[in-house]
Order: sequence, then C-alpha cells, then structure tokens
Amino acid sequence: MSSRFGTIFSISTWGESHGGGVGVVVDGCPPLVPISLEEIQFELDRRKPGQSKITTQRKESDTVEILSGVQDGLSLGTPIAMLVRNEDQRSRDYDEIQHKYRPSHADFAYDKKYGIRAWSGGGRSSARETIGRVAAGAIAKRVLSNFGVEIVGYVEKVHHLHATVDPLTVTLADVEANIVRCPDQAVAAEMLTHIEEIRKQGNSVGGVVGCVARGVPAGWGEPVFDKLEADLGKAILSLPACKGFEIGGGFGMTDFTGSEINDEFEADADKHVFTRTNHSGGIQGGISNGMPIVLHAAFKPTATIMTEQHTVDDQHENTTLKGRGRHDPCVLPRAVPMVEAMVALVLVDHALRQRALRG
Ligand SMILES: Cc1cc2nc3c(=O)[nH]c(=O)nc-3n(C[C@H](O)[C@H](O)[C@H](O)COP(=O)(O)O)c2cc1C
Repeated sequence: MSSRFGTIFSISTWGESHGGGVGVVVDGCPPLVPISLEEIQFELDRRKPGQSKITTQRKESDTVEILSGVQDGLSLGTPIAMLVRNEDQRSRDYDEIQHKYRPSHADFAYDKKYGIRAWSGGGRSSARETIGRVAAGAIAKRVLSNFGVEIVGYVEKVHHLHATVDPLTVTLADVEANIVRCPDQAVAAEMLTHIEEIRKQGNSVGGVVGCVARGVPAGWGEPVFDKLEADLGKAILSLPACKGFEIGGGFGMTDFTGSEINDEFEADADKHVFTRTNHSGGIQGGISNGMPIVLHAAFKPTATIMTEQHTVDDQHENTTLKGRGRHDPCVLPRAVPMVEAMVALVLVDHALRQRALRG
C-alpha cells in the first residue's frame, strides 16, 4: 500500500479507523523550524468529527502527541512522528458491512485488491487516515510561512448552492465564521439549512472546495512529470471522496478563445511582472508564475446514507443495504483543512526542491 507522499519533505501516514490510533511520520522537515502543538491541534480541530451539528457525531478529541523529531519547540531535522489515539469506536455499527459492500464506498475494491479488509470503521478508507496529512500539513504551513506563503481553503459550492468568493481577499476568519466554512455568509446560511434538511432525510450531498495559495514566488515546480499542477492534482485527488480537480479556469476555459482567455503579462513601475488575469491559476509550464495559485476540488455526496440501496455481498449474492451509524451528511466542511494540508505539502516539497536547485 502506498502511504508515502513527497520527495524532500515527505510523509507516511498509518493507522486504521478502528485500530489503536492513526498518525504520520514527517521526513525532511528542515531543522530549527518552530513546531507548535497548538498550531497542529488547531488544524486537527477543524478536521475532527463531532465539531458541529452538520458533521458525523462520532466523538473524538483527536488530541495529537508528538513522539519524535522536536525538542524545546524546534524541529531537529530528524523524522517527526505524530500520533492520535482512536477513542470512540462502535464496531457493531459495521456488523452488516462485514459481508455486504457499501455502494460507492471502498469495501468491494479493497476486498478484490487484498482479499481481506478492516471492515470495522472502513480501515484506511476512512477519512480518519487524513489526520496524519492534516498534522503534517500544519508543519508544512509553518515552513511555508517563512517563504511568505499563505493558504486558505473554503467551501464554494454545496449541492446546487454556489457561493461568491474572491480568492485574492478571502481570509481564514471569513471561512471560520460559520460551521459550513463558506466565506459567503449569506449563502453559507442557505447551505447550512440544506445540509440539515438532507441529514434529516438520511441522505447526503457533495460540493466544491476552493483553495488559494498566495505569496508563492515564480519558479516552484518541475517542467515535465512533476509539474506543479500535476502534483497538486495527485495530492487533491488522493483525498477520500474527491472526484474532480481543476487548476485556474480549468474546464471552463474551453468555452473561450485564446484572445479572450490568455493571461497577458504586464510590468509595474518597479519592473515587477504580473499577469492581468489569472486563468492559468498561478501555474504555467508546470511552474509557478508568481500569481496566486487557485484550485478547486469536487467532493461527491457521502457514500453511506440511511436509505436502502441495492448492493451485493461477498458471495456475490444480490441484496440491499441501509446505512447505519454516524456519518457526515456532507463532507465539505471537514474537507477544507484536508485540501489546505495537501496543497501545503506539495508546495513545501517544491519550495525545498527549488532551494536545492538554485540555493
Ligand atoms: C471529511 C470527510 C468525511 C467523510 N466521512 C464519510 C462518512 O461519514 N461516511 C462515508 O461513507 N464516507 C465518508 N467519507 C468518504 C469515504 O472515506 C470515501 O468515499 C471512501 O473511502 C471511498 O473512496 P472514494 O470516494 O475516494 O472512491 C468522508 C470523506 C471526507 C473527505
């Protein structure tokens, strides 16, 4: 199983949803970086279940322990291991799916791949796996802040409800001002009502998370296979329930001509080069061009719903299944810190690669 990610700044996540705990080993973090338990816990609290009435009600404190690689609040340059113990497991909620495959979940595919699966809680296919990514992402964000980079993720769409968000000005405070994590406060209220209604129906909805990285200098990224948008795409699509990725204008650019959509260059009085528009999303030729990096991630409706659906069992007999237990009616609010973490992990790796190339 490939649970490793990154080249210079790399992570390995480990742990099953209903095992002893989950965590991460971060390798390649430079020495003498201030590592704050509070900063890491802040990000984990944005991710954790039970944080509001529109997330799963599984109650986990998700308290992080740093086991290695940090001394007196500074990174040692050695592997940083972080652990979060699992606390609130109800395996009986999963009894039925020991033999039946949840529609649109990972059960069938895992069984075909391994011939065995941690059916209780979904094992590695559970969103608990992302705890390690978010903890590591907090460290990546701290390293990136030394380069002047700031990353803000936000909910832009829930089902049919679209928000208006300006990636140039959106702030963490705007995002955290409501439990949906949508910075358009009026639309956020509509999204909240809609998600509550969907939950009451035992159903689920998906949506779109937007994310901006501001302050990325020109020159990060590699020209061919490790293009910055290719690495970002892999990072984002590796998140559970993520089924779409767009950089900049993405698919929408196909509606326009070159004269309408090209990002024209201009230099200001200080000879600082910028582009008049940013349809490229801050990346050209796989390399950052100094404009904000803007991307979007599509998350599908949560697979487990409280409505009976057709499925098969592990003997390939046709049957039906109705979801049980505690699930997110909409994964979007909790996906925001996960998207930010993956963007931070890609950018910090490319920052260090560029430093290795050019000093
Ligand atoms: C924040 C977040 C929370 C999730 N919560 C649930 C959940 O409560 N129930 C569920 O069935 N899937 C949930 N998922 C999605 C599954 O983990 C995912 O759909 C499953 O592993 C199958 O993988 P795939 O959708 O990427 O193909 C969640 C995903 C995210 C990002």
